[in-house]
Amino acid sequence: MMKKQSAENKNASRTQTLYRHAKERIPGGTQLLSKRPEMLAPDQWPPYYRKASGCEIWDLDNRHYYDFSTNGIGSCLLGFNDPDVTRAVCRRVRSGSMCTLNPPEEVALADRLCAIHPWADQARFARCGGEACAVAVRIARATTDRSVVAICGYSGWQDWYLAANLGDSDALRGHLLPGLSPLGVPRELRGTTVPFTFDNREQFNAILEQYGPRLAAVVMEPCRSQDPAPGFLEFVKAGAHRVGALLIFDEITIGWRLHFGGAHLKFGVSPDLAVFAKALGNGHPMASVIGTRAAMAGAHDSFISSTYWTEGVGPVAALATLEKMQAADVPAHIARVGTRVQQVWREGAARQGLPVHVGGYPCLSHFRFDHAQADALRTLFTQGMLARGFLAGTGFYPTLAHTEAILDAYGAAVDGVFAEIATALAADTVTAQLHGPVAHSGFKRLL
Ligand SMILES: Cc1ncc(COP(=O)(O)O)c(C=O)c1O
Repeated sequence: MMKKQSAENKNASRTQTLYRHAKERIPGGTQLLSKRPEMLAPDQWPPYYRKASGCEIWDLDNRHYYDFSTNGIGSCLLGFNDPDVTRAVCRRVRSGSMCTLNPPEEVALADRLCAIHPWADQARFARCGGEACAVAVRIARATTDRSVVAICGYSGWQDWYLAANLGDSDALRGHLLPGLSPLGVPRELRGTTVPFTFDNREQFNAILEQYGPRLAAVVMEPCRSQDPAPGFLEFVKAGAHRVGALLIFDEITIGWRLHFGGAHLKFGVSPDLAVFAKALGNGHPMASVIGTRAAMAGAHDSFISSTYWTEGVGPVAALATLEKMQAADVPAHIARVGTRVQQVWREGAARQGLPVHVGGYPCLSHFRFDHAQADALRTLFTQGMLARGFLAGTGFYPTLAHTEAILDAYGAAVDGVFAEIATALAADTVTAQLHGPVAHSGFKRLL
């Protein structure tokens, strides 16, 4: 089905050459940390694509891959270039996607989101996840006229969030991306954002005790890799409300994936505000903050305004995406796909005696090598999968486009690569077998 692709050949490729140039021209090489090839397999992972469709990608050198990594960092739950979404978007583009007036579809989208979330009365829109979180925090601060924000989970790159790392320690360790540098964030923001870890009632209570009357909001992912302990979300909501703060659920990654409308609907706990992005537009920039009328009050009085929040593609893409997601029962499909992939990892590792730990919801699956050479082993895994025509790391975000036949091919490829890794471990040749440097973990300066 797929031809083995040699690493030597790849290193001389157009896509790698362009990336070497990009690192001279673009600080950090890419616009998103997770899209750096250094995070997967430096000098081997293809940085650029020419075409994408379903879960298939063609790089600049026309090499073909099935995506068993993050499928657009979780943005394309229906698959890349979904025909129904693309058709709707093209219609809007042909009739003008930007002008002096507003797109009526944003009103339809606000209605649709409030219908899916009966607890919400109103919606505001942005185009990216991090900025939508900043909008939600601004609204909460304006509504409460307070400053301090408690956080649990990852909520983007902006000052309000990275302020958590202005203390002496890496406070955001354990919130998805360790080592995020707050350089450039005003030191004066120290103490305005304080983290607590998932399911940790003591830490949350300590925040309430120390900051209670100054707390504007609690921003948290309702879950990321496991269900909350029974009663935890209710406990956080009650604690926040007791001190007069708002509860904001960040559903940017888990939303629509675990449950249509967001994980909080599955758990039956409604926040004051919720934030969606990524899958909402299925690859087209779209983000939303929805909320109760009372929580959204600050949005009337604070200045929250941006030109491209008024373009038409985002709302059209979101409406088409929501329609298809609901009709296709996406959470059920991706749960099946993710369960099968977790089984491939578990059983393949057991057959080869590899120290592999599998975790996460099937819809947001990951594994790790419990080994001193873990980073080298995951690089070797990615290298072997690339040679077999798969973009694959230790995390997998399934989509509607992953079919049984593609899963069969992936299973066979993983078996082959795990066997190679077992041989390399036995011979102590893991790093010697790598065709490039070991993958980075976390944030690091390039060049
Ligand atoms: C939970 C969560 N919040 C916020 C963000 C930031 O979104 P964006 O990358 O679109 O700015 C992410 C991105 O991974 C996320 O997972």
